Amino acid sequence: MRQMKLGLFLAPGGHHMAAWRHPEAYPDGVSVKTYLRFAEIAERGCFDLLFVADVFSFSPRAKRVDAFRLEPLTLLSALAMTTSKIGLVATATTSFNEPYNVARKFASLDHISGGRAGWNIVTSSANEAPNFGIDELSEHAERYRRADEFTQVVRGLWDCFEDDAVIIDKKSGAFFEPSRLRVLNHEGKYFKVRGPLSLPRSPQGNPVLVQAGSSEDGKNLASKYAEVIFTIQRDLESARAFTRDIKERVISFGRNPAHALVMPGVLPIVGRTRQEAQDKYELLQSFIHTEAGLLQLSRSMGVDLTGADVDKPLPDMDIAKLPQSRSVSIYQQSKRENMTVRETYEKLVVSKGHRQLIGTPGDIADSLQEWFENDGADGFNIMPPFTPGGLTDFVDHVVPELQRRKLFRTHYEGSMLRDHLGLPRPAARAG
Ligand SMILES: Cc1cc2nc3c(=O)[nH]c(=O)nc-3n(C[C@H](O)[C@H](O)[C@H](O)COP(=O)(O)O)c2cc1C
Repeated sequence: MRQMKLGLFLAPGGHHMAAWRHPEAYPDGVSVKTYLRFAEIAERGCFDLLFVADVFSFSPRAKRVDAFRLEPLTLLSALAMTTSKIGLVATATTSFNEPYNVARKFASLDHISGGRAGWNIVTSSANEAPNFGIDELSEHAERYRRADEFTQVVRGLWDCFEDDAVIIDKKSGAFFEPSRLRVLNHEGKYFKVRGPLSLPRSPQGNPVLVQAGSSEDGKNLASKYAEVIFTIQRDLESARAFTRDIKERVISFGRNPAHALVMPGVLPIVGRTRQEAQDKYELLQSFIHTEAGLLQLSRSMGVDLTGADVDKPLPDMDIAKLPQSRSVSIYQQSKRENMTVRETYEKLVVSKGHRQLIGTPGDIADSLQEWFENDGADGFNIMPPFTPGGLTDFVDHVVPELQRRKLFRTHYEGSMLRDHLGLPRPAARAG
C-alpha cells in the first residue's frame, strides 16, 4: 500500500515568522546540540528525511533567528553520526559552486551516512552574488541552463567508477579495476571537467536529487532530474494541478512519475483540542515584530514594503509587473479580503507562504490524508511552528494517528534514503 513521505524542514527556533521568541523555542541557530535533538525526534517519528535550506547572505535588517546558519554539509556530517536511518538533505547552489565540489561533498556525505544523502538544487538570487565577486547574477533562464549542465556533470562525476570498480586486494596488490573507470572528460557551455571524482561510487549510487523551483524553468529542471520536489501549495486544487503538471513533465522526460515525489510544505499547529491549537497559534502571532513582518512581506512579494503603513491596505500595484507568481497570489488575496498591510503579513506570510494547519491530531491527519489520497501530494515537508515543541507535538500525536490509518510507516524497513522513498538505485550511466 502506498504510504506518505514525511520530511522535517529544519529551522532553528521554528518556521513561524516569530517562532524564536516563543518561550519554549530553542533560539540558538548555531548550536549543534539543537539540531541533534531535532534529528533524534524526527528519526523517532520515522521521518524519511530532514532538510537543511541554505542561502549565502545575511541581511543586517534580519529579525529572524534562522538568518544565522551553519554550513549545511558540515552540519549534516555531524547529524550523520548521531542518527542511523533518516535521510539528510541539504541545499547547494549551482550559481556559486563548481560541480566537482558539489559532487564530492554529497558523495562524501553519502559515504559518511551509509547512503542517506540528498542534494536540493537551487539557482539562488541576486543578493547573494556580491559574496562571490559577481556584480550581477545572470538572468533567470540562464541560471537554469547552467543548473541543468551542472546537474549532468555532478551525476557524471558520481558515476565515474562503476559499483564494482574498487578491489583493494592486499594480496594481489590490485587497487581498482581500470576497465570499470570512466573518466568524465566533460566539455560543455558552462563547464569543463575532466574527472574522475576521487571517491568510489557512493552507497546510493547517486545521492537523491531534490528541487524546489516553481517557474517554468524550475519545474522543467525538477521534472528532468528531481526525485523529490518541494513546493508551496496552499489549497488542494492548486496542489493537484501542480502535481499533475509535474508528473506529466516527468513522463515527457521519459521518467517514471512515481519516482518524482511531490512534497508541499505544511506548518502544523497541534492542540489536544481545537481551542488549544488556536491559543498556540495566537501566542505565536503575538510575537510578530512589525519590522520583521514588513521585511518578510517584502521578501515574499519581491517588492520593498518596509516603509509601508501597516494600518492601510497594500499600495496598488500592477500585477503584470509583480516579480513572482507568489506575489500575485498574496496581493490578490489581500485586496479581495480588504486586508491591511499588517493583516496581510500576519495571515499570509508568517509561514513563508506555506499552508498552515491548526487543529487536533485528527484534524491535521484528515487534511494530510485528503491531499495524499486525492493526488495533491506524495508526502509533506513538515515545518514545525516552533521547535522542539511543535515537532514533538507532531511526532507524538499526528504521526501515531497517521500510523493508525496505515498512511505512514511504523518502522524503517531499509537504511538508505532511497529505500524510504521507494526510489531505485540508478546504474552508473555509461558515456
Ligand atoms: C521548501 C522550499 C525550500 C527551498 N529552499 C531553498 C534554499 O535552501 N535555498 C534557496 O536559495 N532557495 C530555496 N528555495 C527556493 C527555490 O529553490 C527557488 O529558487 C524558488 O522557488 C524560485 O524558483 P523559481 O524561480 O523557479 O520559481 C526553496 C523553496 C521551497 C519551496
